[in-house]
Amino acid sequence: MMRILCVCLGNICRSPTAEAVLRFKAGAEISVDSAGTGNWHVGKPPYGPAIEAAALRGYDLRNLRARQVKPGDFEVFDLILAMDAQNQIDLEALRPSVNETPVRLMMEFTSSQQSEVPDPYFTGDFEEALDLIEAASDAILECLI
Ligand code: 4NP
Repeated sequence: MMRILCVCLGNICRSPTAEAVLRFKAGAEISVDSAGTGNWHVGKPPYGPAIEAAALRGYDLRNLRARQVKPGDFEVFDLILAMDAQNQIDLEALRPSVNETPVRLMMEFTSSQQSEVPDPYFTGDFEEALDLIEAASDAILECLI
């Protein structure tokens, strides 16, 4: 069983969306979770507009709850996917010594010029985030098969 952790800042917009999209597209051999580098929203469901935009594409985010990423995640997951470069920097600061779990930008797997998923909490563009996350999820699963 391969385990993938999706990480963003708040764990209420991008990474829960990535979790649901990857889970929907992946087979049973891949388990997916998400977490945030920040702690403001711990225990809360995803942001309403993110839930609504995802639901229109068939992804159910309603039962997800935010949590903060922790050093132990590096021991549990086989691949950690950061939504933006700052998430990647913050993740590297949490990496336990000797751990070599890959922390990659989710968008690295696509041929897109864009390397980050812009935060829809600030841009308001939930469709853009979904478009990028769906394309990256397809590319990642293609790469893992
Ligand atoms: P996310 O978006 O990282 O995609 O979950 C955010 C949501 C909330 C905040 C930051 C990012 N916030 O600072 O409250």
